[in-house]
Formats: sequence, C-alpha cells, structure tokens
Amino acid sequence: MASSGFRFELMHTDTGSNARRGRLHTPRGSVELPTFMPVGTLGTVKGVDVDRLRSTGSQIVLGNTYHLALRPGADVVASLGGLHEFMGWSGPILTDSGGFQVFSLADRVKVTESGVSFRSHIDGSPLEITPERSIAIQELLGSDFAMAFDHVVALPNKREVIADATWRSVRWAERCRQAAQRNDQMLLGIVQGGLDPRLRQDCAKALVALDFQGYAIGGLSVGEPPPEMYATLEATIPALPADRPRYLMGVGRPEDLVESMARGVDMFDCVMPTRNGRNALAFTDRGTIRLRNAQHERDSSPLEADCPCPACQHSRGYLRHLFQAKEMLGPILTSIHNITYYQRLMAEARLAIESDAFDEFRRAKLAGWEA
Ligand code: GUN
Ligand code: ZN
Repeated sequence: MASSGFRFELMHTDTGSNARRGRLHTPRGSVELPTFMPVGTLGTVKGVDVDRLRSTGSQIVLGNTYHLALRPGADVVASLGGLHEFMGWSGPILTDSGGFQVFSLADRVKVTESGVSFRSHIDGSPLEITPERSIAIQELLGSDFAMAFDHVVALPNKREVIADATWRSVRWAERCRQAAQRNDQMLLGIVQGGLDPRLRQDCAKALVALDFQGYAIGGLSVGEPPPEMYATLEATIPALPADRPRYLMGVGRPEDLVESMARGVDMFDCVMPTRNGRNALAFTDRGTIRLRNAQHERDSSPLEADCPCPACQHSRGYLRHLFQAKEMLGPILTSIHNITYYQRLMAEARLAIESDAFDEFRRAKLAGWEA
C-alpha cells in the first residue's frame, strides 16, 4: 500500500508540448521516463532471454495476473522465489491485474459486482478473480507495480454499458486499495470511461480521491480510431495529478507512443514489437518491413543501418530466409530488433524532451514513418 523505496521524479516538461521527462525510483533500480515495457505475459518476453532483453534497453517488464495464476499458479511462482527470481529478471516488474482479460476473453467470463468468473482458456477450469484476489495474486508474484482490477469493455459500446463498467472499476479500485498490504509494491488505479470526456474526468477524479501512487489510462486501443484515443487522453490527463506517473495501457504503434507522450503519458506497454516480430513484421524509421515479401530475397542491407541489435548484424535477405524456412531464429531476431527499435525511440524521445525539442522530434518521426 505505502511505498518505501518508490519515488516519482518529474525532471522536465517539454516547452512545446506536454511531454514529460521523469524518473521512477524503485527498490530494484530506477526507470527512465517515458518508458516502454515489453510484455512478458507468462514470465517471459516471448523468444527473448533476460540478458538479451536487458541489452535492448528495456528497464521494466510486464507480467499478467490471469495467465500466471492459471499457469503455473501464483503459489508456484511464490514458492520459486517470486516472479523476479522465477524469470531471472532483477529489474522492476509491473503486473497487470486480469481486468483486461474480461475484454480479451469476453466469451469466457461472467462479471458480477463481486468479481469475475473465468473459464480457463487452457482447459476450461474455473478461475475466480475478485479485486481482493487480484491483489493477493500480484502480492504472491511480488511485482514492483500492481494494477487495480478493472472492468474493460469493447468499443464502440452502449453508453450505459461503458458507464456501468467504469463505476464498477472505481468500486473495485477502492477494494484493491483496501486489500493492498505490501509497502514494497506500488499500486496504480486505472481510469476507464470509453471515449466520453465527462465520464473519463469523473472516473479520474474518483480515483484521485482514493490517492493511488500512479494512474493508468485503460480501455483504449480497443477498436477506436487513433484520433479518438488522442482526444480521450487530452480529456483525461488534466484530471490526473502532475506528481504521479501516468501509464497508457496496451498502446501501441510507434506513432501512438509519440502522440501520447506529447500529451503527457509516461509509461507504455504493448505486445506489438514481439507479436509483429513473430509475424515477420519489423519496425524501422521508414515504416514497417514485411520480411516475407519477395522483394527482400536478395537484399543485403540490414533492417536499420545504425541499429545495434543482433538482427541488424544480418541482411534482410537472411532474415527473410529464416522466416521462409520456418526457423525459430527468425521470430527471435525480429522480436529483439523490434523491442530495440521501441527502446531507441523512447531514448530519443527522452533526449528530445530534455532539449525542449519534442515537437520537432515528433514531426521528424511521423514524416519518416509515412515515407
Ligand atoms: N491493458 C490494456 N488496456 C487495459 C485496461 O484497460 N485494463 C487493464 N487492466 N489492462 C489493460
Ligand atoms: Zn536491429
């Protein structure tokens, strides 16, 4: 609940935008903000061992309550020393609460005021997650950052459905706040409210009254057009305290990161670099590259000339060959390249904020991706 060893330091706000340069101090080291967290749902960032992950510039990783509770079980992780020890990652870890699986596994869930009954996506066995249980699982996992258990719905959706899920998320957030016992874990509230600016602001105010140590913005990137997501950020962020970190959950494409940083977001997570990497899609400053495309067959150039990652020691022609031959190294190398790409983007963004040049940076990146 309280936070010994945790501190959010706001170092600088860009003069030409709302982009913020900060630092999140934790007992497991500090995280430079804005930051991107690779997704390690099951205690592994798919295809990337922890030493390689570190060398991509990643400082904090994300794990998932629902998935780890099902397999291997939070008690198993705890008996093997907690999630850090279990996966061999000594840096900070943030765990998501399971609330997103209400949305992503919608046909396998039943929501009541008490909580959510899941039918396991693995074997159909029942799993009950309440706000209290989500916190208990996250405490067993021993993450540094825990998320409140929320109710996420798809967009577009009926006004009443969104409002109902939003206020349930607030009531559940209060129960999470009550349940949280550890002072070595920071708890973040999650703002819901669909695309309705009033509902977002009311939700944010209600969560701020509960005094969380940080605030996430959830329920976005669930089917709405990007400009509506940006407008929702603009409506929500002014209702959040400047002295707490802000985390936009499950976002996104490189342009979404840049546009969201410009609006004052400090933290991100997304499966995109790894999921796309497994599907032979690579990110570069000149847009995405489909490695399976025949045009790369005899291409001797690397994905990016100045990228220090191990994939960029090879030609596009070789990477394409790995995918065509279904070699496991193809997905592995492309995932590593993509995470490296995201982390270099974040490092450049941090420098741009420090020198009050974020808008220039933003324009240059967007122009490159469009080319
Ligand atoms: N991941 C992406 N969006 C969300 C959200 O709204 N809530 C939770 N808990 N996780 C998310
Ligand atoms: Zn690379």
